[in-house]
Amino acid sequence: MKSVTLPSGEQVPAFGQGTWYMGDDRATRAEEIATLRLGLDLGCTLIDTAEMYGDGRAEELVAEAIAGRRHEVFLVSKVLPHHATRRGAVAACEKSLQRLKTDRIDLYLLHWRGNVPLAETMEALTALARAGKIRHYGVSNLDLTDMQELWPVAGGEGVAVNQLLYNLSRRGIEWDLLPWLRERRIPVMAYSPLEQGRLVKNAKFAAFARRHGMTPAQAALAWLLANDDVIVIPKCARRERLKENLGALAHSLTAAQRAELDRLFPPPAGPCPLEML
Ligand SMILES: NC(=O)c1ccc[n+]([C@@H]2O[C@H](COP(=O)([O-])OP(=O)(O)OC[C@H]3O[C@@H](n4cnc5c(N)ncnc54)[C@H](OP(=O)(O)O)[C@@H]3O)[C@@H](O)[C@H]2O)c1
Repeated sequence: MKSVTLPSGEQVPAFGQGTWYMGDDRATRAEEIATLRLGLDLGCTLIDTAEMYGDGRAEELVAEAIAGRRHEVFLVSKVLPHHATRRGAVAACEKSLQRLKTDRIDLYLLHWRGNVPLAETMEALTALARAGKIRHYGVSNLDLTDMQELWPVAGGEGVAVNQLLYNLSRRGIEWDLLPWLRERRIPVMAYSPLEQGRLVKNAKFAAFARRHGMTPAQAALAWLLANDDVIVIPKCARRERLKENLGALAHSLTAAQRAELDRLFPPPAGPCPLEML
């Protein structure tokens, strides 16, 4: 498995597994769990979840999927902005730990910025780290101005990642946020790397992928995986699809292929507000 290095020096898989909407439907539950387990077998040992997903149901499903295998997993979860206070974050983290049936979260993220001052959230996250409840902390959906505000705050320089909407059809971060993070060696965790499945259905993109011997999902993921500091976390609820998606790791795009994709999905021509889903 390709890996990405966190600022601490720890390496994590570049290909993780998303879980939004998992655990919502009893009919698909067994296959969702089987897919997450197959992912562990195949080296996708980073699992991304959040207290928000299904009001905790996704975390409970993850607990079931990783039962007996916790030591193999790099577990990522997120605190809702309105819980991200000095006391609220501690309570939210405790509940996540209970649902996840574990004593520690490997990476705990502020899900997006709300009204709680960043300094207070950092205080809570650093306290959770000191208490051993979380091993690393980070942020999600924070734009350049938020990152610039966060940096001088106590604990701000300790963020391990910024989890952002990033895929071929959402390239806005390439203008200024991605370079800023890169200068500080903070990896991007690219969420919705398949644009929630919409990229796969794009006819021109599908034709590009076919022409180059890939499926559209493989091409979309290979394009992101070409970066040494980008972690992809596609959500996949079917084993066959997971195997297909992992095929992306076998394709490194050529300069000509990348140029073709730049024509299909142009990079930003100027600053753009951060997009999120
Ligand atoms: N921090 C944030 O604010 C934030 C926001 C959004 C997402 N996330 C995280 O990022 C993860 C991934 O993002 P996402 O779930 O929004 O979208 P995504 O990973 O871009 O797309 C998931 C969709 O693509 C489908 N899919 C997967 N592999 C496919 C393939 N080979 N061919 C066709 N379709 C395929 C999935 O179907 P099946 O499920 O049926 O396989 C699912 O409907 C989330 O699950 C979550 O963990 C974080």
